[in-house]
Amino acid sequence: MSGPTRGESSELALGGVLLSEAVRESGTPAFVYDLDGIAENARALVAALGARGLCCYAIKANGAAPIVRTLIAAGCGVDVVSGGELELALACGARPDTIVYSGVAKRDDELDLALTRGIRAIHAESVEEIERIAARARATGTSARVGLRVNPAVEADTHAHIATGHDEAKFGIAREDLPRALAASREGGVQVVAVSSHVGSMLMTTEPYVAALRVLIDVVAEVRSHGFALSYVDAGGGFGVPYRDGERSVDGPAFVAAARATLDAADLGALQLVIEPGRALVAAHGVLVSRVIQPKRSGTRRWLLIDAGMNDLIRPALYQAHHRILPVSGGGPLVDWRVAGPVCESSDDFGVHPLPDPPPELVAIREAGAYGRSMASTYNVRPIAAEVFVAGGRVVEVRRAPGASALVARELGQ
Ligand code: LLP
Repeated sequence: MSGPTRGESSELALGGVLLSEAVRESGTPAFVYDLDGIAENARALVAALGARGLCCYAIKANGAAPIVRTLIAAGCGVDVVSGGELELALACGARPDTIVYSGVAKRDDELDLALTRGIRAIHAESVEEIERIAARARATGTSARVGLRVNPAVEADTHAHIATGHDEAKFGIAREDLPRALAASREGGVQVVAVSSHVGSMLMTTEPYVAALRVLIDVVAEVRSHGFALSYVDAGGGFGVPYRDGERSVDGPAFVAAARATLDAADLGALQLVIEPGRALVAAHGVLVSRVIQPKRSGTRRWLLIDAGMNDLIRPALYQAHHRILPVSGGGPLVDWRVAGPVCESSDDFGVHPLPDPPPELVAIREAGAYGRSMASTYNVRPIAAEVFVAGGRVVEVRRAPGASALVARELGQ
């Protein structure tokens, strides 16, 4: 299963449910997710990893509980980057020893939560942070299991906003600072149990992933030489997905196979391989269904104005990302429409798409399962969109959008 399909009626469906039916109760804009497709994706990755690996879902991609629970049931742990995400992962039933926690600036209360709940490891991103983790472990009477997130200084061929592993990024411990990080760990009584890295998002080939893993393999030897017993290597996430027709990317199991081969060749003994994919697990299994408000002719340009905007899906505005837009039903000759939302920003623009003329009532914005809802805002006093979850060929849960009155009450301080 991979995203929306058109059945005999020529109407677009996701997970076996017609999209027009899926949004009947919730109205639009609405994210519709196929939980079976997500589970199938996860099972393939978990199987590729086998018993010597753990797939920690990067919950930042989409934190909706039905999705997180589906992934946990399929055998995933969780990768979190804030105390809020950690609370969410635990509330969804993730076992603490399957949770890893990265993030360049963790507050004391967030470190305390991670330490007292006994997660698998806190991935430290600086020498200064190791010292703070050691201090919080003393203050809370806990022992600190730490992973060293190393900045591998590998350039990923991706959008500048989502490249994290190059040497000017704020993330990770620079290779040259490793001796200081190890000294701080020893002095602070911290147990270093892992090394990790994340090169960036939307990797379309395995090369940068493997290049970063090679750096980690070097680091393993250095960490062990200081007497630390490592239990896993975390190669990060970033597996790309195709957003455009004809675009190709390596699939998740291929990233795992490349990483495993690289690790095995290095012969490091019993070390688990941890991965942190987000987008690759959920992007294709979610669409954002939107109602056409009206067309607008402006000189020679044809705008198609829809009820979803950049506050619902910010990726086009923030990264110049392209998300395919399909008519939910209806035929007719295709013409190029420039599709835009109602938000008062010129960047609220989904680009040019071939769609019927006259326009359909509903359109579906594809690959909206990752970094859609989780990055949504209430800008322009627009409520967070509805969410509809599909499994076993039917709608299993509907979350309506809160009314604008809830947002108004907040502005009034009520
Ligand atoms: N692990 C770490 C440490 C990360 O920083 C990230 C993403 C991931 C895992 C998961 O990456 P994924 O497998 O989803 O590519 N909002 C952007 C993506 C930002 C990713 C930030 N870090 C977008 O919509 O493209």
